[in-house]
Amino acid sequence: MPTQTEAPAAATAQELRFPPDFWWGAATAAYQIEGAVAEDGRTASIWDTFCATPGLVAEGHTGEVAADHYHRYRDDVVLMREIGLSAYRFSVSWPRVQPGGRAGENPAGIAFYDRLVDELLAAGIKPAATLYHWDLPQELEDRGGWTARDTALRFADYAAVVAARLGDRVQLWCTLNEPWCSAFLGYGAGFHAPGRRNPADSLLATHHLLLAHGLAVQALRAAVPSAQVSIALNQGAVRSLTDSAADRDAARRIDGLLNRVYLDPIMTGAYPADVVADTASVSDWSFVRDGDLAVIAAPIDALGVNYYAPDLVSAAATPHEEPSVYPASQDITFHQTPGPRTEMGWTVDPTGLRDVLTTVHRRYPDLPLYVTENGAAYDDKVDADGRVRDGERIAYLRAHLAAAHEAMTAGADLRGYFVWSLLDNFEWAFGYGKRFGIVRVDYDTQQRLLKDSAHWYRDVISAGGIAA
Ligand code: FCB
Repeated sequence: MPTQTEAPAAATAQELRFPPDFWWGAATAAYQIEGAVAEDGRTASIWDTFCATPGLVAEGHTGEVAADHYHRYRDDVVLMREIGLSAYRFSVSWPRVQPGGRAGENPAGIAFYDRLVDELLAAGIKPAATLYHWDLPQELEDRGGWTARDTALRFADYAAVVAARLGDRVQLWCTLNEPWCSAFLGYGAGFHAPGRRNPADSLLATHHLLLAHGLAVQALRAAVPSAQVSIALNQGAVRSLTDSAADRDAARRIDGLLNRVYLDPIMTGAYPADVVADTASVSDWSFVRDGDLAVIAAPIDALGVNYYAPDLVSAAATPHEEPSVYPASQDITFHQTPGPRTEMGWTVDPTGLRDVLTTVHRRYPDLPLYVTENGAAYDDKVDADGRVRDGERIAYLRAHLAAAHEAMTAGADLRGYFVWSLLDNFEWAFGYGKRFGIVRVDYDTQQRLLKDSAHWYRDVISAGGIAA
């Protein structure tokens, strides 16, 4: 077993300054916070359907009300201002803007984001918009979802509509959020909407998501020539359990399917040959048509990295019992990295963030980076005096900011950091049981309460870094 690496000493010992123009942000996603699922013309997304299917989401929770942000966005922007955020990453709900997945636009749906963006700008907060954070219109899923090539074309149309309305004010675009989750958890493992379980479909969905990304980049640039365009990928640090050739090869394969299969075609216009070979038993990749890779490789202005925890893998002699979320990887075992864990069971290991940022930087030195998500769920309690003393979350955030700083010192061009999440919210298949917010949400009253971590983040932002 590898010994666990210590968090960088810098995490607590020294003052860490960030550049004056560094973006201090927080992130959310439409379905996780908005609620109002049937208002102003919005129709169902695959997540509404998934939630309505018994047994798929913890305690039968749904996004029907969520954090009621659709009605409370003004108050939420006031909180962002109180914390001192310089940027806010939100996502746009496709079925609000194009109900039923139909072409054209729903004026009442896009108007919500129009108001939100204006409110942010009035508060001095840069709007960073994600076009797709997993809420595909159900009607498009009924026609094949991400396994249908047409969904990518429909996405380009949707991107053009949003760009035409918000492009004059949005300062950073993310086309997709974590396409790995959409494809592998949604179509391969069935843990996420739409809940399909077909390893071949997860690769087909991967390609169509990447094609959708490339077409959306074109649509954004056509509508807004000065647009700053990125994609948020859950790039991970994949480590091998031992130094054996077999374990190292397992790590190579997972690195291929988690990281390189997404980033390489965008950056180089080709799928990694080893990944195509590794997955030959489930797919011949004949869905890749001439010209697709040139579309996918449209230049981006920055990469968003979402990071939570590292992966530790080994080559196992026997298939493991849990269905593997990775196609053609039944012979690989995932291990828990040693160390403290969050409420999600994810190991706290900031060296993973440092390694991800430095690896991406080494491979693509000119690519500006943002940490578009990073944070931790803990079982927060409101104390009798009305405070949430979430010291573990503060420790997590501090250590990861220090790790990000270390990567910057090593040359990574990191432009900003977005805490996941601004608010406690609907944590997908885990429902409301997992709280990631720096602001607590009381789901009975919808009252917001700044946790200690929000106060701590405010101090970091105002100091431009972490004080000694
Ligand atoms: C990421 C998702 C985000 C949230 C965090 C905890 O994978 O992008 O919506 O669920 O995990």
